[in-house]
This record gives sequence, structure tokens and C-alpha cells, in this order.
Amino acid sequence: MVKNAPSPRKARVAPPSQKRPAQLTEQRAKTERRSNAAGVGAERLSPDTTWQRRHLLDLDDFSAAEIAVVLDTTDAMKEVLSRDVPRVPALRGKTIVTLFYEASTRTRASFELAGKVLGADVINVSAAGSSVQKGEALLDTIRTIQAIGADVCILRHHSAGAPYLAARESTFRVINAGDGGHAHPTQALLDAYTLRSQLGDLRGRKIVIVGDIAHSRVARSNMWSLTALGAEVVLCGPPTLLPAGLNGAAPDAEERDLPPVRVEHDLDIAIEDADAVMALRLQHERQSGGLLPSLREYARLYQVNSERMAKAKPGALVLHPGPINEGVEISTEVAHGSRSVVEEQVANGVAVRMAVLYLLLRGEQP
Ligand code: MLT
Repeated sequence: MVKNAPSPRKARVAPPSQKRPAQLTEQRAKTERRSNAAGVGAERLSPDTTWQRRHLLDLDDFSAAEIAVVLDTTDAMKEVLSRDVPRVPALRGKTIVTLFYEASTRTRASFELAGKVLGADVINVSAAGSSVQKGEALLDTIRTIQAIGADVCILRHHSAGAPYLAARESTFRVINAGDGGHAHPTQALLDAYTLRSQLGDLRGRKIVIVGDIAHSRVARSNMWSLTALGAEVVLCGPPTLLPAGLNGAAPDAEERDLPPVRVEHDLDIAIEDADAVMALRLQHERQSGGLLPSLREYARLYQVNSERMAKAKPGALVLHPGPINEGVEISTEVAHGSRSVVEEQVANGVAVRMAVLYLLLRGEQP
């Protein structure tokens, strides 16, 4: 945890303001006028434009309606991306800074492309090669980015809570691109979008998340969004790789207020009749060691393979946030098989991140 950073679970961002219907209509009309000028196709946007957040730090206090606004806006962004020239001036004049203290391929590249498609200027800063290597503290880097004139900073950091600190100490908007094992909200939003595109309404759908849940920010953010959308979430992994506080199992655990999910240690049972299975990478960089007898044993018990997928619903989907370690958490055959939507997840990541940037910055059209 970053020193002085508020506890991520306690530092909830303000809930969306409760506007009266007349104000909403007026606001909607304004938004539509703005988005037409921005070339984003307002008619495709959700009529519910009450997404009023200043930052995107986690999904733990998101309602189903708010998530739906992001997913509906993503539909409009997909349409932009399908144009011959996928460029719109929606965020022209805006400066986006990506600040990454951890490695990334998909998240950083898709945020960069998302910003460029919307006409913003995008500056990429990674800890390696920046003043961070000379010992600069996170707060000083944040102040530098503010002085540059950033409108939004997309921050990935190895410490849970870092984006909350950035949000508190700066005037720009902050998007959490992954903070330690805590949260990765845009990954969960692109997962929800991919699932919704394939399965429709997620209420009552059984989604199994299998692997290193304890160290996975992707799993945590997905727990919040999928339960908010009404899905039945089943977590599967060895006891050493599950958070201690799940379902009140360890009342003294640091993390005890995760949403209600089912826990099943046997993947062959967990996967029965699943609508979708999400495999997760072992987060070796966050593990303290001694959590698994061996990789071979782990793969034997928890690998998502064809034999196991045969127990899920016919046509059940396979997801993975990447990067994939083929042959460990997922077999090569399943990772690239007909049920896999892994590449679709990556493609949807650009549109979802466009939607998030647009929703955060649209109120400030030049
Ligand atoms: C993450 O940044 O959390 C990735 O998307 C998933 C992983 O690293 O395994």
C-alpha cells in the first residue's frame, strides 16, 4: 500500500449525483449536442447519461445502470472504430498521460490508441526510463504531470491505493490501470462488454473465475462488476490462492467486504454448466512463495482444458485477461479454440477505454 494513500475500499469516489428528471432531460440534450459535434454518434449512446464520476478507480461502488452506460457508450465507440477513418475530434485539445510503473502491453497500447482515436494528445511515461529511476517519488511525478497540463492520468502501479493518492493530490482525472492486487476496472469493463455481446443479459449467467484469485486485481474488479450485473460468480483455485476474507470466512482478514460469490476448490465441479470460464495467470510477481507444490500439480488440478470445458454449457466462452502462460492455467488448444474470446477481449479493450475517456472528459469539451 502506498504511504498516506487512503485504503482503496474506504476511499470510495462520490456516488453519481441524483438529478431530477427535468435536469436530466436538459443534461441529456446538452450531452447529445456535444457528442454530435464530437462525431461520436449520440443517437447510439444510452439515454441514461448520469455517469458523473470524476475518476475511475474501482468498480466496487458501481451500479448495474452505471456499468450499462459505459457498455452502451462502448457500442458507439465500436461504430467509430469500424469507420474507414477511425478518428473523431471528441477529445481534441485534451492531454492524456499514461504513467506505468509495471509492465503492460494490452492496457497501455489500447489506452494510447483510444486517446488518439478520440483526437487527444497522448504522452506515455513508464517508470523505466523516466525520473522515477532517479528516485523521484510518486507524488513528485504526479505534480510534474499536473504541471504539464494533463487532463487525465492513466496510472498503473505495483502498490494498491496509488491511484487514490493521485486522485486526491492532483487536479487531473485519474483512471486506475491496475494497482497491485487491488483493482483493474477497465479490464473488468471490457470483460463485461465481451460477455454481454456474446451472452446478452448477464443476470443468472454462471461465470467461473479460476486461478490466482488472491493476487488478481482482474478477479477483484470482475467480482464487483459481474455481481452488480446479476451474474452468478464462482471462484475456483487452491485455498492458498483465494483471498482470506471471502464470504466472511475470516472476519479478521484485511479484506473482508468482497461481494458475495461462490467458492469451489474443485474445478471439475465449478465448471459444470458454466456459461463462461475466465482463466487467470499465476501472479508470480505478487506471490510470497510456497503457495503451490509445483506448477505441474497446479496445471493438473486447475488448467482450463478441453476435457474440463466439456463439462461447461455447450458453447461456453473462454476468457483470459492476458498475458497467457499456455500450458499452465490454460491449454493451448482452449486458448486458441473456437470458444475463446481472448482476441475479442483485446479488441473490445480499445472501445471500452474510449468510452471511459469520453465519459470522464466529455463535460469539458473545448
Ligand atoms: C493485469 O495487469 O492484471 C493483467 O491484465 C493480468 C495479468 O497480469 O495477469
